[in-house]
Amino acid sequence: MDKFVIEGGTPLNGTVSVSRAKNAALPIMAAALLAEGKTVIRRAPHLADVRAMAELLEVLGARVQRAENDDLEIEVLDESHSVGPYDVLRKMRAGFCVLGPLLARRKQARVSVPGGCIIGFRPIDLHIKGLRALGAEVRTRAGYVAAEAPKLKGTRVFLGGPFGSTVLGTANVMMAATLAEGTTLIESAACEPEVTNLAHALIAMGAQIKGAGTPWLEITGVKKLTAATIDLIPDRIEAGTLLAAAVATSGTVTVNDMRPDHLSAVTDKLQQMGADLEITEHACTIHAQGRPHASTLVTHPYPGFPTDLQAQFTTLLTLADGTSVVTEKIYPDRFMHVSELQRMAADVRKEGPNAIIVGVDQLSGAPVMASDLRASAALVIAGLAAEGQTHVKRVYHIDRGYEHIVEKLQALGAHIQRLPDDEPIPPEP
Ligand code: EPZ
Repeated sequence: MDKFVIEGGTPLNGTVSVSRAKNAALPIMAAALLAEGKTVIRRAPHLADVRAMAELLEVLGARVQRAENDDLEIEVLDESHSVGPYDVLRKMRAGFCVLGPLLARRKQARVSVPGGCIIGFRPIDLHIKGLRALGAEVRTRAGYVAAEAPKLKGTRVFLGGPFGSTVLGTANVMMAATLAEGTTLIESAACEPEVTNLAHALIAMGAQIKGAGTPWLEITGVKKLTAATIDLIPDRIEAGTLLAAAVATSGTVTVNDMRPDHLSAVTDKLQQMGADLEITEHACTIHAQGRPHASTLVTHPYPGFPTDLQAQFTTLLTLADGTSVVTEKIYPDRFMHVSELQRMAADVRKEGPNAIIVGVDQLSGAPVMASDLRASAALVIAGLAAEGQTHVKRVYHIDRGYEHIVEKLQALGAHIQRLPDDEPIPPEP
């Protein structure tokens, strides 16, 4: 197991490019199960979750390979095996969105109920509701969701839940509906750019979808889909993480190859916190000096402030000039980073779905434990800003979602290294 060793206190400076979005790549990889021929995904990121999805598709009869130019190619060779095993699903929940494509193409499938998740309660009831509305018989037995339908039929289904829309639930039901008989209307569909990217990928394969990017998706079933070449959107969460790191270290950073229009809630928040931003169509330059202003931050479905940047901004607000409140409306328990930030001298406490943060003028480097992907990123930001040395352990979490993160931060002047974690943890002062 590796850890990151970070010598904090150096402002980040320079230019960095964002990779393509993991959360767009994963459902689009699942969509390849619907198509005849070879789906090509350009610039699919090199990440543990992408490898896990490739492994799942191979179990399901696809050949998945990297072409010489690094494109990811997926071609279904054998449709006889339709079981998504627990071994993969316990590592990567996104694997559950093979259920819709399998059901649509192969008429039946069994996919493991995803494993427990450290960020909180993550039910799949809305996925099942949508597939049932399309006419599938769906049962949960022995840890697997089994679905079958000789023919899916277009329907009208409301996919809003107590915490808003569902990203992967919308993906699952939209993919199933592409091959259904008739027209399906998904109401309260997720509007996240990754869902829109998937809709455009399906349209490129021959699907008839209207309303991509809105809460109303109208899908008229077609007889078959044909493989296409798909471009992924830039990773808005990686872009937001890099901007937060620039502010935490009082740096000046240009984040290139991004879509600022996918990140308006975040750039708006950064401006409220006192950062100078220069925004163009595909880049954002941030210039930060001194401590950020305290703020209130509430996570919401897109276009609101994303839950996947809550942990990173919680770190940022630990350094703010004043008291801040962060409210998590998507995953009320997604605060695993708080106790680790306390170890770094942050003054933060959790009260229900809120973190109350009294800003300090300096964090103090410490050995800390990454608990999940975004919490890991939050601890890396804290380490970059802190005085002294921080060891972030269990960085396999960050490998799930941040491509070449160490190299990118080093290029911005950060003192960060990946080392094997066999050294003793230094004693606390
Ligand atoms: C996606 O997960 C992302 N994962 C998550 O990113 C992200 O945090 C989340 O959307 C919210 O934006 C991928 O895209 C692979 P949801 P997903 O269904 O689709 C409730 C990361 O760090 N809900 O949109 O599984 C649910 O409990 C990851 O990259 C139901 O009630 O999330 C939550 O409160 C972590 N019933 C809310 O909806 C359901 O059937 C939104 O969840 C499904 C969800």
